[in-house]
Amino acid sequence: MNLLDGKFIAQEMYTKLQSDAAELKNKGIQPKLVIILVGDHPASLSYIKSKEKASQTVGVECEIMKFGADEMDTAKLIEVIRGLNEDDSVHGILVQLPLPKHIYEPDIIKAVAPQKDVDGFTAYNLGKMFLSTRFEDLAPCTPLGIIKMLEHAKIDVEGKEAVIVGRSNIVGKPVAIMLLNRGATVTACHSKTVDLSAHTKRADILVVAVGKAGLITADMVKEGAVVVDVGINRTEDGKLVGDCDFVTVSKKASFITPVPGGCGPMTVACLMNNVIKAVHKQNPSLS
Ligand code: GUN
Repeated sequence: MNLLDGKFIAQEMYTKLQSDAAELKNKGIQPKLVIILVGDHPASLSYIKSKEKASQTVGVECEIMKFGADEMDTAKLIEVIRGLNEDDSVHGILVQLPLPKHIYEPDIIKAVAPQKDVDGFTAYNLGKMFLSTRFEDLAPCTPLGIIKMLEHAKIDVEGKEAVIVGRSNIVGKPVAIMLLNRGATVTACHSKTVDLSAHTKRADILVVAVGKAGLITADMVKEGAVVVDVGINRTEDGKLVGDCDFVTVSKKASFITPVPGGCGPMTVACLMNNVIKAVHKQNPSLS
């Protein structure tokens, strides 16, 4: 078994991104990301801390706008986003999800200017990603991180059976399309899938993004499969674990992502990559 060491690959990306950010500063541009948090979802607080730390590492200014759930509604949040769309000092806008239930997420995502959509969640950026790898631009960070880890390990996806478990707009759906566009034969499984293990057992590449500890056990995995575990779950004793039973699944896998230290660090590094990309998009004379 080989580890897909997201933490290590993320460090390599940071070295490059640091010099990109320094170059931009030399040209008088301070890259800036604004993160909007509504409410106090515990996982969101921890994700935001990682994004803030990564910004510091790279040299991106990171402003966090925090709002109480009861002081914000859909219309007010759209107004905040419109202000940031208009603000030339802001290059990236990230609305941390999930939002409180009374805020309508699709309208919020739609309000973000596509050229500042560093999460890659707007219909425009998702549409480009959908059409062809050639049009991928600001692509969703977790799927992009998965693709980068596979590339780093020289795992060719063309012709492979890729099975995705989870159909979220953030991970499952976009990673399915990205793998499809790279020539994999893709199966998308979800909570209504009748016989999950019949599908997972066929996978050459298995991506699991559900958020349920212990969902994937060794008997559900083919010998030699590449296993990408996107899940981040906290056990009763406070330990972070993925959706796969790492000890047993790792014995069958040819490659596997650890949790923590796999998809998480890559997601944040890809976010930083998108911020730098967004700066260039907004300053076409630079490149
Ligand atoms: N919540 C969980 N993952 C993500 C992500 O990648 N971006 C945002 N904005 N919210 C999330």
